[in-house]
Amino acid sequence: MSFNNHLDTLYRQVIMDHYKNPRNRGVLEGDSVDINMNNPTCGDRIHLTMKVENGKIVDAKFEGEGCSISMSSASMMTQAIKGKTVEEALTLSKVFSEMMQGKEYDDSIDLGDIEALQGVSKFPARIKCATLAWKAMEKGLYTNKQ
Ligand code: FES
Repeated sequence: MSFNNHLDTLYRQVIMDHYKNPRNRGVLEGDSVDINMNNPTCGDRIHLTMKVENGKIVDAKFEGEGCSISMSSASMMTQAIKGKTVEEALTLSKVFSEMMQGKEYDDSIDLGDIEALQGVSKFPARIKCATLAWKAMEKGLYTNKQ
């Protein structure tokens, strides 16, 4: 098996693991940033709640219906932003968006499992799936800032 095939298999496994065992599934109760968003091309949706205290995302949960890419991306996103400041989460979102557009991105930032979604950039029709949760996160944080 070539290195690239091996990497593809590994990435697929990471994506399927997040899809089958989603991290941070659910809805936060109480005072939290609450965002609903859907992918207009297919109707899949995400409901994201985040608790922000003193500029830090102390908790995040999501629920929704969607394809394996959208749901695994949501799981990875909530995992990545928990404990980060709002600014750090928005920077991560920018890096992710650049990665999805196949652009050069700041590789000094540790992407962890998110790296597994790299290959999606080669499939334009799926990019909206991968970015759905991130767009919800950005919208929620920007709205909360005002
Ligand atoms: Fe709907 Fe992927 S097919 S979000």
